[in-house]
Amino acid sequence: MLLKEGKIGNIKLKNRIIMLPTVTNLSNEGFVSEREVEYYKRRSKGVSLVIVGASYVNKLGKFFINQIGIDDDDKIEGLKRLSEAIHQNGAKAGIQLAMHNPKYKPSDFTKEQIQGLCTRLCKWSNKGEKGWF
Ligand SMILES: Cc1cc2nc3c(=O)[nH]c(=O)nc-3n(C[C@H](O)[C@H](O)[C@H](O)COP(=O)(O)O)c2cc1C
Repeated sequence: MLLKEGKIGNIKLKNRIIMLPTVTNLSNEGFVSEREVEYYKRRSKGVSLVIVGASYVNKLGKFFINQIGIDDDDKIEGLKRLSEAIHQNGAKAGIQLAMHNPKYKPSDFTKEQIQGLCTRLCKWSNKGEKGWF
């Protein structure tokens, strides 16, 4: 069963083995590092989908010291290298968009700020869908 083809929505998967998101703390101040690319390259062998660990969409949502950032266009090049490394092994690449700093609670933000964060999440989901993840 695990080796049978699978499907999530319209995404076809070569088997049913998925790597769940796990923050690695290998980035350089939010930028994907070579160690990170190597790590995911190794991990993507044999699985059908790799979900890159929680990546902050806004610095306020950063929780781990060397967490990947998906908050600005200057990070795109590294993120592309990461997804390409995963694709090279025939796996699909996904990324977990996160905003989870427990220092903050929803009431610390105005309605407009929360709307801004939602817009940001959608913007990066679209970018990911169009290009590399
Ligand atoms: C080092 C480490 C990093 C993790 N990072 C994430 C993460 O980025 N996002 C997430 O949703 N869960 C994260 N988790 C949780 C795991 O994906 C998983 O849900 C958890 O380890 C429970 O797994 P289990 O149900 O197989 O025991 C992390 C867990 C560990 C041990």
